[in-house]
Amino acid sequence: MTSEDWQFDPPTEVLQSRLFAADGYLVVRGLFDEETLRDLRAEADRVRVDAERMLVAESDGAEGRGGFPARAHRSGGGGDLHWGLHGCPEMTEALAAICGLRVAPAGSGTYSYYEETGDFLAVHRDVLQCDIAVITSLTARAMDRAAGELIVYPGLMREPLSAVRAAGRNAGVPVPLERGHTAILLGGIVPHEVAPACPGQERIVSINCYHVLTAAFDAGIYGSEPMASMAG
Ligand SMILES: [Fe+2]
Repeated sequence: MTSEDWQFDPPTEVLQSRLFAADGYLVVRGLFDEETLRDLRAEADRVRVDAERMLVAESDGAEGRGGFPARAHRSGGGGDLHWGLHGCPEMTEALAAICGLRVAPAGSGTYSYYEETGDFLAVHRDVLQCDIAVITSLTARAMDRAAGELIVYPGLMREPLSAVRAAGRNAGVPVPLERGHTAILLGGIVPHEVAPACPGQERIVSINCYHVLTAAFDAGIYGSEPMASMAG
């Protein structure tokens, strides 16, 4: 894909949404109560035993959505609790109210573990199935605001990723998540990354993707790119 292949053309529903008006991302607290956060962390710890290290040395040069961004972190599939919380009607209703968009859960979600010094996920846009990523931190954030945290580039959402890479991290906005905070991100539109973790840091997040339901979606016009765990 060349930079000429990237076009900024979100559906009208997205352009008119509350989430888009908020630069494509919101942070909410209290989506899950304390007991649920503890249970999610326990599930993340169980899943971790079989979770794989994801290692990609160099990004593939994608300009739009998907591709293979460089990364180093551990990733594991969400369990029953994760899906129970993210796949239920209460969650899609809550997200609809927060985002001003109709959504449907895509896939069964993942846990990501930024566990070694320098663990990261390079700049990307999420795959076609992941219009909105819901990312909840299960760990305390580091003293360094950006370390191991999401960086978003709303000012460059109309640009190909090569322009975002060239602009560098100073063009981004750190979205540090306290434990129990949830980032809701138009990850298919807003370029984003996870900055390198600092020494001693452990960041564990639960992630679930959602489709935005649009008139085109209702009519059956929809992409078919394979799902991948790169929501952040
Ligand atoms: Fe992502």
